[in-house]
Amino acid sequence: MEDLVVFDDAALQSLLCHQGFGLSVEDLAHSLHGMSRQVIECIERNISGNNRVAFLNELQRDIPPERADMARRVVLDRLFWELTYWKTPDLYEELTGGERLHPGIFEQLAPDISGNRVLDAGAGSGRAALECVKYGAEKVFAVEPSPGLLRILEQKWRSARNQVVPLRGRFDAIPVPDKSVDLAISCSAFTADPAQGGEPGLAELQRVTRSGGKVVIIWPRPQDYAWLDRHGFSYVTVQARGVQEMCVQFGSLQSALQCARHFYAHNPQVARFIERERRSDVPFSILGINPPCDYCWLVIK
Ligand SMILES: C[S@@+](CC[C@H](N)C(=O)[O-])C[C@H]1O[C@@H](n2cnc3c(N)ncnc32)[C@H](O)[C@@H]1O
Repeated sequence: MEDLVVFDDAALQSLLCHQGFGLSVEDLAHSLHGMSRQVIECIERNISGNNRVAFLNELQRDIPPERADMARRVVLDRLFWELTYWKTPDLYEELTGGERLHPGIFEQLAPDISGNRVLDAGAGSGRAALECVKYGAEKVFAVEPSPGLLRILEQKWRSARNQVVPLRGRFDAIPVPDKSVDLAISCSAFTADPAQGGEPGLAELQRVTRSGGKVVIIWPRPQDYAWLDRHGFSYVTVQARGVQEMCVQFGSLQSALQCARHFYAHNPQVARFIERERRSDVPFSILGINPPCDYCWLVIK
């Protein structure tokens, strides 16, 4: 729980205020029983005004240690990925290094990228931004809230310093001017939840893209297909039927096992598959996630 101090205020407000993370005031307060003044103040400062009184009351309440343990498990489970981005960005990099996007995505987007100004929102350590440089983008604005991931992106991008502009920022306040990019992409980051985009995030992606330009959501969550459709997006999958299944290609057997135990602990068949097959490439179906071979696009009027 002490790791929650890793977030900045904007991130905490988003984590604590939006429905997306589904944290109740009770779980939050109970999870902080016995924690340091520093982390409690951090949460108290960023919890919305109407929840603050209830939060302080629950913090004072006498609860059995098992209740506090259970609340900690709920909170840490919900914040698992956000904590990964902020606290252990190198581990996240190890995971996504092997999680390659289907090359057909960027082959299809090439005419929208080449010679153009591109925004990558929720850029992480630059997986999609890198592809945009490879496909000839004139400039890529890589916007990302986690300082650790942005640092990795900057290190990876030293050779492309003139093309990639790393910027701290979030979907609801993208730090680039109106109509300043030809293409706005977001890869495995934008969702229908306001904490990860939603209506305010989409309005920002539309604001920064010029008329006639495109907003492209790469590798959307299946549960967001209907939302994206309602907002005018067209869906494309680039994986032909019957071709070999896409895999995550970890750097080594050891790295595959480490990632399986850390990121897929809830799905023991992943570690079992790696141990049994002695393979460092793991099919997406074993991981239980849809492969990164689709995107949704919208032309800005
Ligand atoms: C699954 S990662 C994907 C990163 C990168 N686009 C990639 O494909 O590797 C999701 C990213 O979204 C970022 N993110 C989370 N909430 C965000 C927000 N409200 N605004 C912008 N980015 C956000 C995270 O910090 C993280 O880097």
